[in-house]
Amino acid sequence: MNIFHIVGARPNFMKVAPVLNALKQRENMVQTLIHTGQHYDVNMSDVFFQQLGIPPPEVNLAVGSGTHAKQTAEIMIRLEPLVVERQPDIVLVYGDVNSTVATALVCSKLGVQIGHVEAGLRSFDRTMPEEINRLVTDQLADLLFTPSEDGDENLRREGIPAEKIFRVGNVMIDSLVRLLPAARKTLTQTTKTDGLPERYALVTLHRPANVDDSVTLKGILESLLEVNRDLAVVFPAHPRTRKRIADFGLDAGQLRVLAPLPYVDFLGLQSRATVVITDSGGIQEETTYLGVPCLTLRENTERPITVSIGTNVLVGRDREKLRRELSRVLGGKAKKGAVPPLWDGHAGERIADILVSRPSLANAAICG
Ligand code: UD1
Repeated sequence: MNIFHIVGARPNFMKVAPVLNALKQRENMVQTLIHTGQHYDVNMSDVFFQQLGIPPPEVNLAVGSGTHAKQTAEIMIRLEPLVVERQPDIVLVYGDVNSTVATALVCSKLGVQIGHVEAGLRSFDRTMPEEINRLVTDQLADLLFTPSEDGDENLRREGIPAEKIFRVGNVMIDSLVRLLPAARKTLTQTTKTDGLPERYALVTLHRPANVDDSVTLKGILESLLEVNRDLAVVFPAHPRTRKRIADFGLDAGQLRVLAPLPYVDFLGLQSRATVVITDSGGIQEETTYLGVPCLTLRENTERPITVSIGTNVLVGRDREKLRRELSRVLGGKAKKGAVPPLWDGHAGERIADILVSRPSLANAAICG
């Protein structure tokens, strides 16, 4: 079976690793890892491949940054000839980034099968570019691998036939489970060398809705400075956020602003954080698995199971709610959570099982 994996942005890398590794154990697999180059900084990309133990991508389309239209179109233009030339039996796409939807558009028009890993998530907020990417990709995909039951329900409601939907669990948690011991070890070194405080709030921030408007970003930084009075704020800043802070002439004051961290280092910090404050999607899931309280600076989430079962609380931009939830955490009354079903470190293997059992793909392995 000739399989393409397409990745482009930081959150894709920890999702592709377990699928690649699981398929490596199966017979007659030819796997090609293609990086669109959506994320290109060493700290946002290369270091993840090293730490996750996946080979460097065979092809890098080097599209870089741009407007949504430009980035998406550039990926499509550069990917199409490769798919035509190499005729994969199936192309796997991950998550909800521009690289995901661009690939789905190219492959569906070439009649190449598409598998979407992390299908069915919905925030029901179409102002988020990722929501558009999710909706379009799921309409075009042939196999939809969901992390949780809400994903299946969303897809069925949108008219996706049940036989295309496979609930496999959460591939990102596969990587977490595998690398948590290494992350804890790294953390011990970080604590020694960087004087990391015993208790801290770990912060990440990069959503356009939070960082692209100067008034909003200023308000969030003020809230974080307030948090910092009670609990040290450790803030590995996304390049986008760092740039906006500089462009708007804002001041991060006493916050410990760091460069984006490699996967294992960030996971170590998460595992021991008193609380995580974030607008990321994946981090809502990782904190739920780790049992670490998570306060999400968004009004909605495409991962509602992290709220209903996990440790996540949506605080949006409500400063009062952030204060209240933080004082619950500091008072030892943080929300307790549980780990959702199938978030067990074996989602990648389930995807591999499904792929090898598909008659159309299995035949491709024999003929090809
Ligand atoms: C993308 C994803 C988002 C994901 C996030 C994780 C889309 C629509 N969004 O958002 O879902 O949560 O990745 O990080 O695909 N930049 C750099 N170096 C890099 C990458 C980006 O400096 O290596 C800067 C550039 O100024 C760029 C900006 O960050 O214009 C935004 O990057 P982009 O990939 O367009 O979107 P993200 O905000 O990272």
